[in-house]
Amino acid sequence: MKTSTELELMRQAGKVVAGCLAELRSRVAPGVRTIDLDRAAERYIRRSGGKPAFKGYRGYPASICVSVNSQVVHGIPGPLRLADGDVVSLDVGVAVNGYHADAATTVLAGTPDPVARRLVAVTEEALARGIGRVRPGCRVSDISHAIQTCVEGAGFGVVREYGGHGIGREIHEEPEIPNFGLPACGPLLRPGMVLALEPRVNAGDPGVRLLEDGWTVVTMDGSLSAHCEHTVAITPDGPEILTLSLDRVGSTMI
Ligand code: MF3
Ligand code: CO
Repeated sequence: MKTSTELELMRQAGKVVAGCLAELRSRVAPGVRTIDLDRAAERYIRRSGGKPAFKGYRGYPASICVSVNSQVVHGIPGPLRLADGDVVSLDVGVAVNGYHADAATTVLAGTPDPVARRLVAVTEEALARGIGRVRPGCRVSDISHAIQTCVEGAGFGVVREYGGHGIGREIHEEPEIPNFGLPACGPLLRPGMVLALEPRVNAGDPGVRLLEDGWTVVTMDGSLSAHCEHTVAITPDGPEILTLSLDRVGSTMI
């Protein structure tokens, strides 16, 4: 449960995350190296008065995660150059005065194929369905169920090993929010809680494995994967999305 002062700091962190993702979205193009995106993100975050929350978290070596094609999450930026049609998941966490916000989006480089487009659309919709359950009176697994139903209804696989989380002074707080499950279970949602919802959706089977670098998670079957995330506060009237980008307002996607 956050006080109004804490929530105000998280709103500020959320604005920096949203602005950073908007900047990264405009930079994604064939030929760009993923390390270039990391550098642009760190510059943007520090200029905005924030700190990149992932850097050094459990030894993570970069400011953001960039997960390309069959990479699901926690891809480490490096010399890899994006190619036409790549599916690029960007994950950004920021701290402002010790309070966090965390969001992710999946962008398509150049001219994507129809399956990639549908994968991203379904992942965005699953996140939106989850956010629709972020209101007083719902329980954590109502979010889980809404996400799973949307993903599986579209014929895609939802990753089981990683879920959403509470967020505040720490980037990962209680409760854990699985992206699958039966409705009406788990903690009751109350005004003042802040949650990061983040479905990871595979075009094929939901199975994943960890690469030898200890971070990069990839699909077991080599299929494409997408990841969308928002930090959402629960108000008496429903969800307040703290990481909404101004460049997405008015769009059908969030
Ligand atoms: N949004 C991701 C998560 O909550 C980001 C974590 S990246 C890490 O799992 F480097 F901080 F681990
Ligand atoms: Co997160």
